[in-house]
Amino acid sequence: MAAELIRAGKLVAFPTETVYGLGADAMNAQAIRSIYQAKKRPSGDPIIAHIASATQLEQLAISVPSLAYRVADAFWPGPLTLILSRAPSVPNEIAEGMATVAVRMPAHPVAKKLLQAAETPIGAPSANRFTHPSATTANHVLEDLDGRIDLILDGGPSTIGIESTVIDLTTEPRVLRPGGISLRELKSVIPGIETRVSFVGDQGVSVSPGQMLKHYSPKALLILFKGERERVLERLVEESSTAQSKGAKVGVLALDTDALDFPDAVHVERLPDDASLSGVSSALFASMRRLDAEGCDVILARDFGRAGLGEAVWDRLLRAAEGQVINVD
Ligand code: TXA
Ligand code: MG
Repeated sequence: MAAELIRAGKLVAFPTETVYGLGADAMNAQAIRSIYQAKKRPSGDPIIAHIASATQLEQLAISVPSLAYRVADAFWPGPLTLILSRAPSVPNEIAEGMATVAVRMPAHPVAKKLLQAAETPIGAPSANRFTHPSATTANHVLEDLDGRIDLILDGGPSTIGIESTVIDLTTEPRVLRPGGISLRELKSVIPGIETRVSFVGDQGVSVSPGQMLKHYSPKALLILFKGERERVLERLVEESSTAQSKGAKVGVLALDTDALDFPDAVHVERLPDDASLSGVSSALFASMRRLDAEGCDVILARDFGRAGLGEAVWDRLLRAAEGQVINVD
């Protein structure tokens, strides 16, 4: 049924191991346009085409460099997206008229089944309203898109919880968005890959369309603190009291191992602590959504470090904070 809807040009939200996607037939220009309408997504933000086989890769891309096959061998199916030269038969709409196409083979069993049954690549951005945190459960999709899409496949919570790593292979290989494959893992296959990710607003440069800072934001104002752990935690407690005394409802993103002593009214989301930050990654967007649902005016968060998925976590926190960081020294 889901595959039939895709073939009929309809919108189907589906689970992937990173976040939920809002899918439509990647080869159908009208269906791709309807994704932008459902998400209220402005143009200028191209969409990833999802595939289940190497045959579908050849349907989407031309002049595929041998490096792409090596990278795909290492990380597909999984949380990695490759930017390649677009085949002429792929609608302009998916790449906003650019000569490229973004391709990913997801690992989630439901996504795989859907792709196999649909027998067409599926274009899918994250299944959230534009600028909201990405959806990591079917319920989040419903919160943002109820009434605007035709079906949601519920595959339980997304395990990685943060979007795929996007790399451009049409020029010197470079990372456009850190994500579910860590930079360290990537470097094991592409040692020379350029990993400095730029932001709009960061010297005014934009590498990947859609990499604008106001992305992944909760409704609340998110304030990000970095520095030595103990000092940052003390500062979080101080700031929460100050904000509360001014009448603000305060939420905090912390680790379950952080020693904290907040006033009772502060809503603390405790993220699982592990060396690779996979627990933080997996819980991050759901926690932001819960703090919004609590009606928080301000969310205080801290830098959790760069180990494992830390680069991607930092990237999402920085965007949610609209690029503002307070250094506690
Ligand atoms: O994990 C993910 O990547 C999820 C799941 C659903 O696959 N999808 C996702 O899609 O995060 P979206 O639309 O929220 O983000 C896609 C990113 C954007 O930063 C976009 O600019 C970039 O990929 N992108 C897509 N096509 C591109 C292209 N042709 N050239 C450069 N960047 C591209
Ligand atoms: Mg998105």
